This record gives sequence, structure tokens and C-alpha cells, in this order.
Amino acid sequence: MCGIVGYIGKSKASPILIKGLSKLEYRGYDSAGIATIEDDKICHIKNKGRVKELENSNKLENLKGTIGIAHTRWATHGKPSSINAHPHLDSHENFAVVHNGIIENYRELREFLINAGYTFNSETDSEIIPNLIDYYYSKETSNDKFLNAVHNAEKDLKGSYALAILSKFDPNKIIVIKKDSPLVIGTKDNEKYIASDINAILEYTNDIFILKDGDLAYISENKIDFYNNNLNLVNRTPEKITWDAKASDKGDFEDFMLKEIYEQPVSIRETIGTRIVPNKPCDFSDINITKKYLSDISRIYIIACGTAMHAGISVKPIFERLTNIPVEVDIASEFRYRDPLIDEHTLIICISQSGETADTIAALKNAKTCGSKTIAISNVIGSSITREADFTLYTHAGPEIAVASTKAYTAQITLLVLLAIHFAEVLELPKNEIINNLKEELLEIPSKISIILENTDIIKKFAKKIHKETDIFFVGRGIDYATAMESSLKLKEISYIHSDSYQSGELKHGPIALIEDDVTVIGIITDRRLIDKSISNLQEVISRGAKTLIVTNQEIDTKLFPNVFSIPKVHPLISPLVSIVPLQLLSYYVAKEKNLDVDKPRNLAKSVTVE
Ligand code: AGP
Ligand code: GLU
Repeated sequence: MCGIVGYIGKSKASPILIKGLSKLEYRGYDSAGIATIEDDKICHIKNKGRVKELENSNKLENLKGTIGIAHTRWATHGKPSSINAHPHLDSHENFAVVHNGIIENYRELREFLINAGYTFNSETDSEIIPNLIDYYYSKETSNDKFLNAVHNAEKDLKGSYALAILSKFDPNKIIVIKKDSPLVIGTKDNEKYIASDINAILEYTNDIFILKDGDLAYISENKIDFYNNNLNLVNRTPEKITWDAKASDKGDFEDFMLKEIYEQPVSIRETIGTRIVPNKPCDFSDINITKKYLSDISRIYIIACGTAMHAGISVKPIFERLTNIPVEVDIASEFRYRDPLIDEHTLIICISQSGETADTIAALKNAKTCGSKTIAISNVIGSSITREADFTLYTHAGPEIAVASTKAYTAQITLLVLLAIHFAEVLELPKNEIINNLKEELLEIPSKISIILENTDIIKKFAKKIHKETDIFFVGRGIDYATAMESSLKLKEISYIHSDSYQSGELKHGPIALIEDDVTVIGIITDRRLIDKSISNLQEVISRGAKTLIVTNQEIDTKLFPNVFSIPKVHPLISPLVSIVPLQLLSYYVAKEKNLDVDKPRNLAKSVTVE
């Protein structure tokens, strides 16, 4: 978790590195640093705080080199401080390293290096890396000392890492290596760009190498040599990335989150893509799931974290209804440690926007060892999870920059709804009527969301009313409970207001004890069959003093509920695609009322690459 950038070419490196860091800040933002080489000497600066502070540092002007590496940190070992910020240099200042990940055996390596005469300044696990490289460099007798020293140091490392390394002895080279943390290299004529994420370098080039675990790249301005774990040269070809660089700009929006909420009609349309074919089954020719395989399946597990897990909860009903296969939704960090009862008759679907979430990847690997087939749902081409899974399906939400996930969530639900339909079609179950109905309804979702996005006054007013509160409850029955969970997560993430979500019927079994005068309860009602029960539950809280906001597409008596936000009617099995939108906006406007940094909430990072 953190952003790494590197550059080697003819231009001054520091402006390119700073620009790249600011595009990666969503990955971590507690401190930042940069190192370049000039006159065969490593020069570096680092600061606690945001990239902006680094950019405003008057020392930046002094970094004149045309080769450099940079880092924006999300601390795992040692508090955010300028000493703990990266790059880290070895005791002799021969090597500089930026690191994303965790070195699990850093304590024993640190002790070894201290005994070998090295000294340490920071509390980080990362500082052992430049020292270890220096140690091996001092012992190396071959011609390729830098390369061999890095390779030997890597052999000692346990854990996860993406590393970019400078050496004052090879001032025209950068070495990068990766294991379980993402890294890409962009190439354009006599310039090379390194980044944790494609977005950071897309404005310079579309030709991108996506590194595999175990890759070591030895980079100069006009050449990249790739080596495998045994230091044998391997062939890698760049991918042509077709994302538009502008997709990662804010455009006319004040924040990425708002832009991404407004992009949902397009991202859902793009995710449907050409999968719905008129008068034919859905097109899933990119995966090979047969009738025989699905008929032998006893259970589907959907595994993910946070918002992606809520997408799983939202689609459990549609999978069960259309395929008659029981579905369990599990939190990735719990799944692998509870010895789940899975085998070759279990299908595992892992959802991860970033495709880099360590918990989800670990759960997927674990499931594979039990013989289960795995499908990854990801938004990032070539991300780590896509290389582990048997099959990958991509959402086409485009780059999601805000830490709080919005458009990726609705794109995940869209793709999973289509997958459920595909399974029913493969199984040839007699469900044509509902399937055709769902396909038609799915195609109408983008315009229904657009209607919501054009009428947001009630939401803005309600956000003003509640932004000073300390506890807010979200309730829903059936599929609306999934929306309640996701809305509650969104609110806490960016507004720092404590909030809980409950199945409406559960309130009376305990949580109603918390309801008193003026507490806010937000109810979601989209299923006609559950409307009477849901209304009774909400009246129970009103009679205990609560103020309510109801998000609904049902007829509600406005005499009973003063704040009703109406959303378009939609098939109940896909209603989360629509009902979440006003509640994403509510969180956004509450956070804005509180003057908070919506895109980069405290303590969070976009992709969580540690367990
Ligand atoms: C979403 O708003 C969160 N920041 C977080 O819960 C996120 O959904 C979770 O960490 C999973 O991320 P992934 O989809 O990239 O795996
Ligand atoms: N473990 C390292 C540290 O705490 C790297 C963290 C990161 O990936 O930002 O400094």
C-alpha cells in the first residue's frame, strides 16, 4: 500500500516524479519522498504529510537529476514521520530504495546487518533493504555488481514488496523487483517510467509492461532487461493500454468521488458492454463454464472485502433465484482462517476493484489449493488477482481514484447480475421470463441513475441537517439491507460519523435501545413484498423520537415520513444499483459540510496490499 514512481530519461526527473506521486496519493498519503542522482551522488528529500508539501519544499529545486524514484507512504511499520518516509538509504548512502509492502523477517535481517556494522535511522521494515543490497554489493566480484547484489538481497526477503532502487555506482540505471505488490513500467523512446499504477504514467505512454511476481527489471533510458527469479533473461512484451489519460483527471468536478458517482450511468453501460445480445444468451465467451460443471456445483462462495463484499451480498439473492445454487458471501480476511468446507464442487468468485487486496488474493489462493475453481472480478487490467484466478471478468468502470468506492461497486453488481443470468442460461433452467425481464431492466439502469443525479436537492438539504450528528443508523430488509451496509460504510469512511446498519426487523431485538430524540435513521424500501413490515419498523423508531429519511421507489405516506427521497422503480433483484446512488451522494455532501478531504479520508488507502 503506497505509491511508487520512477523516471529515467533526458528530462529533469523531479517534476515528473511529483506529478506521478500526486496521481498515486490515493494509495497512501502520510508522508512522501524523492531521490535523484547527480554527479554520482544520491540526493533526496522527504517530508511528513502530503505530496503537496513535498512539492512546496524549497529543497526540491536542488534535485536536478534526470533519473529518480519517489514514494507516497501508507505506514505499516513506524509512525508517519519524515525519518520513516521513503526513500531509505543504506548507512553509506550508496543505494536508495522505495518500498511498497511489508518485509516480514525484517527484525532478523536488521540484527544481522547491525552485527555487520550497519546503522539504522528509521523504525521501518524497509530500511533493511538498501543496507542488505549494500552488504551484498561489497561482497560481489562479478561485472554486474548492482544486478547481483539486488538479486542476492531479494533471496533473503520474506513478505511482499515492489521496490525501485537507485545506485550511485550505476547512475544511469534503476532496478525494480516485485512480489505481491503491483508495479508497471511504461516505455517511450528514450524514456522509461515506473509506477505502482498505470494511471500515474498514462499521460506519457500507453505502452506498459505489467510486471509479474518474481520479475526483476534492469532499466536504462533506452532499454529494459527482464530477469526471472534465477536471474535468467526473460522476454516480456508491453501491453497497449487504451484507457484515456483524462479519465484520471477530476474534470469539472470538485472531487474524484463526486465525479465517480456521476460516472455511474456510463460505467454500468460499459460494464454491460456487448454481453447482452438481443434474442440470444449473454456473451461470456471469455470464461468457460459448462452445464456439466455448474450442475455438479454444490455451493458458490463470493469472497471480498469492504464495498466489494457488499456487492457480493447484493447479488446473493439473484444468484440463488436464477441458478438454484446456494451462495455464501464471506469476508476475505475471515474466510481463509476458518477452514472453510470447500472442494472441487465449490465455485469461488472473488471481487476486488484494485485486484491487489492481500486478503482477497490470499483467500483465492487458499481456495485453489482445495481444488475449487476461481473467478476474479476486477477493475484493473493485469492486476495481481487476475493472474491467480482460473478466469477473470473485468468491470469497465475506468480508473477509480477516490478511496471510497462508488462506481466500481455498481459496476461489480452489474457484472455479477449478468454472470448470474449467464449461469441460469448455461444450466438451461426454465427462467426465460425473469431473465428477459432482468436484461431489459438492466439496460434501463443508466438512465434511471441519471434521473437521480439530476435531482439531488433533498439529499443536499438532509446532509446539512445531519452533518453534526455522531451516530446514524441505516436499515433495510432483504436486498435493501445490503444497501444499508454499503451506505453506512460510505458514511463512516468519509465523514467520520459513527454509523451502523441493521436489518429493519432486527432493531427491536436490541439496537432500538439506542434510539432517542433526534437520532437519525435512514430506511431503504424497494421491495413491494416487504413494504408494510418495513414501514412498521420505521414507525417504531419514529415513536421513540428518531428523525428519518426514506429512500424508496414504493408509495409511502408522506404524512408519516417527512423526508422521502423517491427513486425510479426497478426490478427488486437489481434495486441496489439504483438505491445506493442517493446514499453515496448523502455521504459525500455530509463530508463536504464538514469540510473534510473526501477523496483521501484519514487512515485509509485505496488498495490494501497487507493482510
Ligand atoms: C470502499 O469504499 C473501501 N475503501 C474498501 O472497503 C474497499 O472496497 C476494500 O478495501 C476492497 O478493495 P478492493 O475492491 O480493491 O479489493
Ligand atoms: N512497510 C513500509 C513502511 O511502513 C512500506 C509501507 C508502504 O507500502 O507504504 O514504510
